[in-house]
Amino acid sequence: MDVALSILTIDYNNVEKNLKPLDEYVDYIHMDVMDGVFVPNISFGYSFIDSIKKSITKTVDTHLMIEYPDKYIEKFAKSSDYITFHFEAKSDINKTIDLIHKCNVKAGLSIKPNTKVEEILEYLPNLEMVLVMSVEPGFGGQSFMPNSIEKVKLLKELREKNGYHYLINIDGGINDKTAPFISEYVDLAVSGSYICNSATPIENVKKLKAL
Ligand code: DX5
Ligand code: ZN
Repeated sequence: MDVALSILTIDYNNVEKNLKPLDEYVDYIHMDVMDGVFVPNISFGYSFIDSIKKSITKTVDTHLMIEYPDKYIEKFAKSSDYITFHFEAKSDINKTIDLIHKCNVKAGLSIKPNTKVEEILEYLPNLEMVLVMSVEPGFGGQSFMPNSIEKVKLLKELREKNGYHYLINIDGGINDKTAPFISEYVDLAVSGSYICNSATPIENVKKLKAL
């Protein structure tokens, strides 16, 4: 299983120095963008991502938890390899996917814990990533919600059956205890506090990657 490091709970005092050793071991850097409207929290925006992009070598996986993704796709495209937006946000899903593709970025769609995979079936052929939220978006450090297990399993079955090409990603509460429940179904998993709040961050990345 590949690992996407969520930098939401990293120590922002000298973030570049703190990121560098982790960048060597993880596969993706996951950028959690929050607008205080779609979720009850504010994190950072495109200028921040642009500035730390210089010290990152891995794939940038930007997760937009914002109400109006279309308005900002071009700004986020500059430093992102993937842009994932929410099914529950205010956008015409197909248009937003097209907009991301026009910017030469891979498109991802995310679903919150109360949204079913069945609600996004029509978009699956056009996506390069599907992100299943295993916590309510907004904050790091929450507990993994087991109803996400069936969702990633179904996404894998649908991909095999239909020849789709999206990566399956899961986000929230991922650690060495919860990851074994999903590792056979996902291509990558986002992990934040399990890595960033640990005294042994690199060991923890290795534990997840071994699954
Ligand atoms: C939640 C974010 C997640 C989160 C992951 O809204 O999308 O990426 O920060 O952090 P942990 O691993 O602490 O749940
Ligand atoms: Zn995220």
